[in-house]
Amino acid sequence: MGSQLSSSSSSTLLLSLISAFLILLEIPPSHSNELYSSCSNLFSCGSIKDVGYPFWGGIRASGCGYPDLELSCENNTTAKIVIASVDYQVLGVYPETQVLKISRQDYANGLCPSKFTNTTLDPALLDLAPGYINFTMVYGCPPNGVLNIPGKFTCNINGIASNDGYTLLGNHGAGICFSSVVVPVSQALLTDIGNSSNSLPKVLQEGFEVSLKADYAACEDCTSSNGVCGYDSSVNQTTCYCADQSSGSRTCSPSSAAGPQGQSKDQGPKCSVGCPLEFQIASSQKPGQRILLQIASIA
Ligand SMILES: *[C@@H]1O[C@H](CO)[C@@H](O)[C@H](O)[C@H]1NC(C)=O
Ligand SMILES: *[C@@H]1O[C@H](CO)[C@@H](O)[C@H](O)[C@H]1NC(C)=O
Ligand SMILES: *[C@@H]1O[C@H](CO)[C@@H](O)[C@H](O)[C@H]1NC(C)=O
Ligand SMILES: *[C@@H]1O[C@H](CO)[C@@H](O)[C@H](O)[C@H]1NC(C)=O
Ligand SMILES: *[C@@H]1O[C@H](CO)[C@@H](O)[C@H](O)[C@H]1NC(C)=O
Ligand SMILES: *[C@@H]1O[C@H](CO)[C@@H](O)[C@H](O)[C@H]1NC(C)=O
Repeated sequence: MGSQLSSSSSSTLLLSLISAFLILLEIPPSHSNELYSSCSNLFSCGSIKDVGYPFWGGIRASGCGYPDLELSCENNTTAKIVIASVDYQVLGVYPETQVLKISRQDYANGLCPSKFTNTTLDPALLDLAPGYINFTMVYGCPPNGVLNIPGKFTCNINGIASNDGYTLLGNHGAGICFSSVVVPVSQALLTDIGNSSNSLPKVLQEGFEVSLKADYAACEDCTSSNGVCGYDSSVNQTTCYCADQSSGSRTCSPSSAAGPQGQSKDQGPKCSVGCPLEFQIASSQKPGQRILLQIASIA
């Protein structure tokens, strides 16, 4: 009888402890802490998962990444990015190699886009990755009697009599033709183009990779001090948001103990044995579960 009573009163205590913690966790973040919490979120859309710095967009506020690296999600299935006014589908984000893989949306359905726009990359932020080359499609060229010129294709352009187009390696202007478009392609896929399972439209849909020249070193310093990386566009610099609401310095002070959930490069708790309870709450992916376990082990 006595032992039943004490076990039921200890489970009541347990329940009230749990609800106290859950209430604590539901307090909305204070304004100055919004970026720490927003940038702890990762962007996911379709097959693109858990993207953090140097990108922003979706549930990540604009202070979480470089202004030109905004991701969006179309139909809950397709991640998109706009670079120099050209729409791209995001095919992959590889933080380990600091690479982004994209393909031009206007070439998703063939070689004939509704308007002709070059691929332009800001060299301060994006470089064509090794293995990819510039490739030019020229449109609306005067008819040429010769059949079977390699790289010849057909595209009807409104108001233009000729629908002959040609492909060329490297960057080229339109010359005697109506327009030209430079699109990077995979050198390996291009070489393989005679192969029946490969074709020029497919090579364009396979996209290309760009190296991101973000300040990963600054971000690494930030995450290793348990901060969350962001970008301060008032000074054009990578910045660090801390759990103690400070920001602007390169690292967080040791007192801001919480570990971020946000950086895909640096997931999971750093502290594994004898960690302070706040640490475990802040670094747990499922706070409720972690607290239950913690309290159960105290009881
Ligand atoms: C999104 O859905 C709309 C309507 O179903 C469709 O027209 C569009 O092509 C879709 N976009 C993508 C990127 O799948
Ligand atoms: C996208 O997914 C979210 C959550 O899974 C859902 O609430 C929303 O309605 C979906 N939107 C579309 C356009 O399917
Ligand atoms: C591709 O073209 C751009 C200019 O549009 C140039 O800056 C870049 O160096 C070229 N890259 C390669 C690999 O040829
Ligand atoms: C694309 O770039 C080439 C030079 O690399 C230029 O000659 C051409 O006019 C550009 N095309 C468009 C549509 O801007
Ligand atoms: C043809 O291309 C496909 C995919 O690009 C590749 O897997 C295959 O090995 C290629 N075949 C030959 C004979 O090159
Ligand atoms: C930040 O970059 C923008 C665009 O490149 C530029 O206009 C601005 O002057 C820069 N600001 C600082 C403080 O460097």
